[in-house]
Amino acid sequence: MQRQPVLSVRGLTKTFGPVRANDAVSFDVGAGELVCLFGENGAGKSTLSACLAGLHSPDGGEIVLNGEPVRFSTAADAIVAGIALVHQHFLLVDDFTVLENIVLGHERGLFVNYRAAEKKLRALCRRYGISVRPDARVGDLTVGERQWVELLKALYHEAAVLILDEPTATLDLQESRKLFRIIDELKTAGVALVLISHSLAEVMRSDRVVVLRQGRVVGERATSETTPQELTRLMIGREVERKHRGSSRPGRPCLDVEHVTIRRPGGAPILDDISFSVAEGEIFGLAGVAGNGQKPLMEAIAGVLPFSSGRVLIDGELLADLDVHGIQKLGVGHIPEDRLSEGLVGDFSIAENIALGSHRDVFADGHFLNRGAIRVAAAVAIADYQIAAPSAETRARALSGGNAQRVVLARELAAASRVLLANQPTRGLDVGVIEYIHDRLIEKRAAGCAVVLASSELEDLLNLSDRIGVMFQGRLMGIVDARSTSIEEIGLMMAGQKREAA
Ligand SMILES: Nc1ncnc2c1ncn2[C@@H]1O[C@H](COP(=O)(O)OP(=O)(O)OP(=O)(O)O)[C@@H](O)[C@H]1O
Ligand SMILES: [Mg+2]
Repeated sequence: MQRQPVLSVRGLTKTFGPVRANDAVSFDVGAGELVCLFGENGAGKSTLSACLAGLHSPDGGEIVLNGEPVRFSTAADAIVAGIALVHQHFLLVDDFTVLENIVLGHERGLFVNYRAAEKKLRALCRRYGISVRPDARVGDLTVGERQWVELLKALYHEAAVLILDEPTATLDLQESRKLFRIIDELKTAGVALVLISHSLAEVMRSDRVVVLRQGRVVGERATSETTPQELTRLMIGREVERKHRGSSRPGRPCLDVEHVTIRRPGGAPILDDISFSVAEGEIFGLAGVAGNGQKPLMEAIAGVLPFSSGRVLIDGELLADLDVHGIQKLGVGHIPEDRLSEGLVGDFSIAENIALGSHRDVFADGHFLNRGAIRVAAAVAIADYQIAAPSAETRARALSGGNAQRVVLARELAAASRVLLANQPTRGLDVGVIEYIHDRLIEKRAAGCAVVLASSELEDLLNLSDRIGVMFQGRLMGIVDARSTSIEEIGLMMAGQKREAA
């Protein structure tokens, strides 16, 4: 006979107006078991985890914890009962310290013994090899660090059930490995784990996979008895094939980056003398472990981040005197790494977010906004990018993570007539739409755009790029031809080995 599951979800239903985000969902998680929730953007994974963690109250169904039905009205209730969630979009309070975020609202009783709490937190950091200062202000942390704070919170409260909603989306490769080591330790300790991920490699590390489609469970498999192909087929109802893309023939130089350097007082430079040039009709890949300068480089080109020295030219025109808007007007699209906080306004509708940035020209009608044009552009974007939403008037914050990202992709790809800066454009998207985005990038290249593509997926970089520049600690370690290089060669440069000039 099987042991009683730690968590048992029975017929859970959650609707938002006409949207059935969760439709009679049932599944169990046992002690020491890692169950993966797998499904397309908008399938209902984050909603389900929010219901389990007390952030939403379900419309129907039951959550059973160690044999007892439970009901939560707040996240604090859930964490006290033993269910912790590492949220897809962080829920920390910026103005509070790490320690305050971890203990506040979750400690039983009125008074918190901060000395004892800090001691416990430091011990946890040591034990799991996590380096976050308990007294750091959360607002000053990077997204990766915030992820660790969320995890520390779960560890601190000794959760019996830990739900991780796309935890590796903000972590680099090394940190992801660390996370999976911690997951293994927690499994051994008997914690019931739920992991949400779009990465098939991560999904395949689980014990069981529950596949969701349009709010419903459409399949459940023991991971050892399934394959990535079968899971993909279950998820979208068809197979996705990956293909190698032939390179185009690049034209004349379009984007020139010359000796761009960003210094910070005291420390090593953020960008150290970066020079490269991207031609019309060329995809220039940027490889590198996340955090080695890809993000500041994109931001420097887009005009978001000022640089100390060097220059950037587009079609021979110096960008020095232009602000972000002026650079956009030259036909530069920028898909930022953290698109939910940097790319969208949560309170704006899909249509307004699509118009963002171009509201002063493309969508302007004299001094007024051309509402008709905005409506048409939004309808086109929703159809082309298969954005799942009730209407173009839906607020961005009501979208699932992947659907919100599609809004940014639609807007920036449309804006990029000369240069497209794409930082991790397919991260967080389900495998069904990744191919579509790759097609759009190829289309941009064919149309004569200079594309800079940063990705942690080396395979994608090799398949799509014409040349690849490899970054390490703010420097460009070398530029290689995508057709003749190998994963090994790029891997060595990513680890800091400089390529000898050929
Ligand atoms: N607060 C909300 N208000 C209205 N609709 C919502 C809200 N939260 C989610 N939805 C809708 O519920 C559905 C499920 O969204 P959910 O965020 O759970 O998807 P997901 O599976 O996590 O997708 P992704 O992989 O893109 O993160 C979507 O159609 C979404 O638009
Ligand atoms: Mg989600």
